[in-house]
Amino acid sequence: MTSGAFLWDHMAEAPVILVPCQTQPRLPSPDALPPDIRARFADEQRYVERIRGSSIYPAVQNVILACRALGLGTTITTNHIRCEDEVKAVLEVPDDVATFALMPIGYPLDPFGPVTRRPVAEVTHADRWAEPWPA
Ligand SMILES: Cc1cc2nc3c(=O)[nH]c(=O)nc-3n(C[C@H](O)[C@H](O)[C@H](O)COP(=O)(O)O)c2cc1C
Repeated sequence: MTSGAFLWDHMAEAPVILVPCQTQPRLPSPDALPPDIRARFADEQRYVERIRGSSIYPAVQNVILACRALGLGTTITTNHIRCEDEVKAVLEVPDDVATFALMPIGYPLDPFGPVTRRPVAEVTHADRWAEPWPA
């Protein structure tokens, strides 16, 4: 929370703010589809909604890794989506395009430190949910 609040206050100081965007997928009108596909249309809509972002966030992660390799600092933020309409208006992003992240990029004030991670066995299951990962 402390670093998040600091970032919020200093976002405008980042020399680059990258806003990854994606044109929203458009499904055809159900009327134009054969009956058997039309019958599954609601399921398909739910599917498309459920996986939204699944192709752009791996690209975001690649940007994070590339920055790190170049000695640049960045991080994924999504808070701006709470006021996305205003952000899109400022950036003149078309209606059918959505923003998925807002990534400040710049040289870090402090050197990168070692990151802490929970042990793999704490966050991974083997074969099925109830099965703990062998330590
Ligand atoms: C999907 C996702 C969205 C995030 N959105 C925000 C955000 O809007 N604002 C923010 O400060 N941190 C956000 N974070 C956390 C930051 O990426 C980062 O972890 C946080 O700023 C703390 O920085 P630190 O881990 O280097 O200390 C988000 C993380 C994820 C995975």
